[in-house]
Amino acid sequence: MGNVGTQAETDLTALEKELLSSIESASDLAALDDVRVAALGKKGKISQLMKELGSLAPEQRKSFGQAINQIKQSVGTAIGDRKKDLEAAALASRLEQEVADVTLPTRSGALAEGRIHPISQVTEEIYEIFADMGFSIAEGPDIETDFNNFTALNIPPEHPARQEHDTFYFDPKPDGSRQVLRTHTSPVQIRTMLAEDPPIRIIAPGRVYRCDSDQTHTPMFHQVEGLVIDKHTHLGHLKWVLEEFCKAFFEVESVKMRFRASHFPFTEPSMEVDVGYAKVGDEIRIGEGDEWLEILGCGMVHPNVLRNVDYDPEEYQGFAFGLGIDRVAMLKYGMPDLRAFFAADMRWLRHYGFLPFDIPTLARGISA
Ligand code: PHE
Repeated sequence: MGNVGTQAETDLTALEKELLSSIESASDLAALDDVRVAALGKKGKISQLMKELGSLAPEQRKSFGQAINQIKQSVGTAIGDRKKDLEAAALASRLEQEVADVTLPTRSGALAEGRIHPISQVTEEIYEIFADMGFSIAEGPDIETDFNNFTALNIPPEHPARQEHDTFYFDPKPDGSRQVLRTHTSPVQIRTMLAEDPPIRIIAPGRVYRCDSDQTHTPMFHQVEGLVIDKHTHLGHLKWVLEEFCKAFFEVESVKMRFRASHFPFTEPSMEVDVGYAKVGDEIRIGEGDEWLEILGCGMVHPNVLRNVDYDPEEYQGFAFGLGIDRVAMLKYGMPDLRAFFAADMRWLRHYGFLPFDIPTLARGISA
């Protein structure tokens, strides 16, 4: 009988060795679980041996039982340890696979391919500068009444200024009135003053239309209107606002500006403003040189215009200006032909367009 015990104990030792080595070589959690089931599961080898205890003689049963229990424990502990190791390894490899390198450049796609049109970018730059000076933004429609575009602005029917505007007219309505594609953003002055009481400090950007086309004129272009009305607003304020605007927009310490006497029916006195620049090769330098480009018209709001919106010209006065957005964009970013702005040529847009993240701010530099 001693033999049987020894034989059984040898088998047990071999079994333990075999189980421990398959635990050690289990390469993942699923393989480890197979080993556990094969050893400790209902039909597992150790469980089978437990069942056989009953058929042994009582004295053998005790020592054999203890031996099996000991194997059961050591195998259980080994499985537990191996499980921890495998779990840690599985986590580590997942972390390694799912790692995101945040220093990589963004994927090519809409964000990398798309461009902001220079007109949109420059309009944002202009908002930023005037917002800083306390202006708010007003808007009006592209299709205007004859009254807002002309009559209220002191341009009565048959006034010669109507011819100068190369207006696109709509067919007359049954009542004889005709709508127009607005020839300037000045009708937004009228809309704003009819809707609000002074003080007023607005800019009004938008598309305007004139039947005209060459290298510096397109039938549709963009303006920003400015209007300030208060009790003591004077020409000095107008000059200061325009100078501050030009310095901030062109990002120069000083800018050469020329205020030329001019005529608009809706301002008195009226001026046109040119900005001085030098052309060095392909580069345009603002604040140097002796070339001039007209960028805006301006003046003190005509008393008749104030009367037309029921403001008392004895109490209120102010200034207005109309700035050509396309003109200042051409100057600032050195784009020689205005027609290219509207040709939708992808090569031009890639070259002159802006990335969506280039958001103009005064703090970071308007065109940083
Ligand atoms: N509306 C004028 C134009 O388009 C510009 C302007 C605006 C002039 C406001 C004076 C005051 O030419």
